Amino acid sequence: MEIPYAESFRIKMVEPIRRSTREERECWIKDAKYNLFALRSDHVFIDLLTDSGTGAMSDRQWSAIMLGDESYAGSSSYFNMKKAIKDILGFDYFLPTHQGRAAENVLFSVLVKEGDVVPGNSHFDTTKGHIEFRKATAIDCTIDEANDTQNEHPFKGNIDLGKLEEVFKKYPKEKIPFVCVTVTCNTSGGQPVSMQNIKDVHALAKKYDIPLMFDSARFAENAYFIKKREKGYENKTIKEIVREMFKHVDMMTMSSKKDAIVNIGGFTAFRSEELFRKASTFNIMFEGYITYGGMSGRDMNALAVGLDEGTEFDYLETRIKQVEYLGAELDKYGIAYQRPVGGHAIFVDALKVLPNVPREEFPAQTLGVELYLESGVRGVEIGAILADRDPVTRENRYPKLELLRLAISRRTYTNNHMDVIAASLKNVFDRRDSIKRGFKIIYEAPIMRHFTVELDRA
Ligand code: F0G
Repeated sequence: MEIPYAESFRIKMVEPIRRSTREERECWIKDAKYNLFALRSDHVFIDLLTDSGTGAMSDRQWSAIMLGDESYAGSSSYFNMKKAIKDILGFDYFLPTHQGRAAENVLFSVLVKEGDVVPGNSHFDTTKGHIEFRKATAIDCTIDEANDTQNEHPFKGNIDLGKLEEVFKKYPKEKIPFVCVTVTCNTSGGQPVSMQNIKDVHALAKKYDIPLMFDSARFAENAYFIKKREKGYENKTIKEIVREMFKHVDMMTMSSKKDAIVNIGGFTAFRSEELFRKASTFNIMFEGYITYGGMSGRDMNALAVGLDEGTEFDYLETRIKQVEYLGAELDKYGIAYQRPVGGHAIFVDALKVLPNVPREEFPAQTLGVELYLESGVRGVEIGAILADRDPVTRENRYPKLELLRLAISRRTYTNNHMDVIAASLKNVFDRRDSIKRGFKIIYEAPIMRHFTVELDRA
């Protein structure tokens, strides 16, 4: 008999989670104005809101925490982080920040100015926010295949070179501070970018003399997919693939809450000493001194270990196999999601699962509320509420995809939890004909409404 796969870890510490009744959940979600962010976490049984900062650290990471050096300047923890960034990613210069969006704030304060354009593959919300806040524009150049959830293209995070070159031709190079490549591309479904595409984008950007940047939150998952799906990389280690990916970029931002498996932290790194010097001023203003930048010594230590563990094949295989396991369960029930399975989450296609809910009544949010009511599982809407209003016309933007993201935290849940999630979605899917109405907005903030929106039943 073939030996089945099993996780490459065993469990040393546990955290109890609590089931609730449907009646309780009906009260709680109503009190939360049907916004899943507004729920208390102890009212959630399985939390798939995000995979950011919610993973389980290893015994090595917790040991490193105890060895943290809390000196204000020049701590040994800073040098541990510096060494990990140099060894694994190849950058000589970096600045620690408290998380990914802070890294964006520091770097973009140097590079992005009013009237600029930043092309890339479906920029993440905070990345886009930091661009638009500076009165610049993010231009999405993702390949069209990413908009069809049933298309099995193995690298749906890829940039369309034709779309990118159009941007290069349309705007003078002074208006294009850099190209932003997000690995993996969260917004398109945790979808990877191929090494070939990274090389091609690099060559094209070089031709037009435009720098290249990685939004690297899930860079290790991207490297895993290159190993698994791209010819010529099957025998390379993850660390070799990572080094090759980063060779092509001039700078990076990192939310370490993802692939460095820590609860808080981030950084921005550069090849240019001049850029490092300029960014240092903003780091000191917004984050902290350049050798801690918003992080404690213990957190920098855990991050250094996490970068090493997060780029080991066995860890990544266990992680991604769990996401694939959930995908395979959903396949059994005919529940559509962004295919093939992404790195950190399953993105359920709400337009296919709840076909009767009008788009103006937010089908993905409706699916999120129904799933929560069913069993206390919390996902997050990646649809029209998140897409927000057009900054000029103030009309609602309806993106091509209307998704419910089920993000899987690292080393946190077991496959029994995946079974609960899949069965709960099946139950909602089975009663789709009776779910005809969604929600209307009763309060929204002028920007980034997703987090604080208040809703009522339509
Ligand atoms: N870039 C990407 C691709 C991200 O997914 C995130 C965060 C950030 C940047 C910002 O990093 O949260 O550390 O400030 N994504 C989380 C998520 C919040 O749920 O996907 P941060």
